[in-house]
Amino acid sequence: MSDNITPVTFGPVFHFKGVRFFPTADRRAVELVESFEVRDDDVFLSGYPKSGNTWVQQIVSLLSTEGDLSEVNKIPIFVRVPWLGTMDKSGSGKPMPKFLKDAPSPRLIKTHMPYHMLPRQTREGKGKIIHCVRNVKDVVVSWHKMREGFEYLPSGTFDENFQEFINPEQAAFGFWWDVVPEYWRHKDDTNMLFLKFEDLKRDLRGNVVKIANFLGKTPSDQRIDEVVSYCTFSAMRDNDATNISRNELFKGQRKEGFEFVRKGKVGDWKNSLSPEQSKILDDIHREKMAGVDLTFEFE
Ligand code: A3P
Repeated sequence: MSDNITPVTFGPVFHFKGVRFFPTADRRAVELVESFEVRDDDVFLSGYPKSGNTWVQQIVSLLSTEGDLSEVNKIPIFVRVPWLGTMDKSGSGKPMPKFLKDAPSPRLIKTHMPYHMLPRQTREGKGKIIHCVRNVKDVVVSWHKMREGFEYLPSGTFDENFQEFINPEQAAFGFWWDVVPEYWRHKDDTNMLFLKFEDLKRDLRGNVVKIANFLGKTPSDQRIDEVVSYCTFSAMRDNDATNISRNELFKGQRKEGFEFVRKGKVGDWKNSLSPEQSKILDDIHREKMAGVDLTFEFE
């Protein structure tokens, strides 16, 4: 399947409706997202960057597979779950929203859009949305490591990337403290499943079952075990279809030693954030999350 896919190339950083978009998003695609025609059986995976999106995509993709999981497991995750805000990479030259018009159902679709910029029909209840959040301190660190690790992403020093992250004008894909509370307000919508990275870490199998239920699927215990076995940290790190920095299509984009499926830990921020940076995040968090009953353990 990957034979038809061209090596990944990236465009410039751009702004759309007040949100700063990083490569690989493309304005030509992002402009078409809101009017994208949704099908009842579409599943949108919409987490903020570095919140466990690839992990959830892998779970959803395998749960949506009938038959042999080992074959599907080899297809690059960005092919199985294409990103709506990008250009198609299989040679059509089309923005993804146009390319996906002809894709067979069920379509699994990645976005990094804030809730109010999702396809309008999803906000009216059509299709399903799965949103995974992660504690902001681990997101900051993971985001920096990725910016540092991929040639195509603009990156400064850790402190420069940190400063961008806490600046609503400069934060890529929206300001975390706008994006996450907005999704949280929709957590009980009938077509929304709201997940936490930290819960997946605590109980991967339980969350696979939860996702299957949300998708209206009833896999056998044996099948669930099989799905879980492909979704552990080590299975995903050793698989170049999910650890995309090892994928041949990202050849030339990966800086020496960088692993996209990197550490997968809760609390890794302690190894990177200075006490001052940690306090800055605590202060912003306290102010912006006041009245939002979504809590994280900053362990
Ligand atoms: P770290 O950089 O902290 O290791 P996203 O897919 O949204 O970009 O998120 C990437 C983060 O999810 C990375 O975090 C990556 O290691 C982690 N991750 C991916 N698969 C995982 C898994 N199976 N178990 C735990 N963490 C995983």
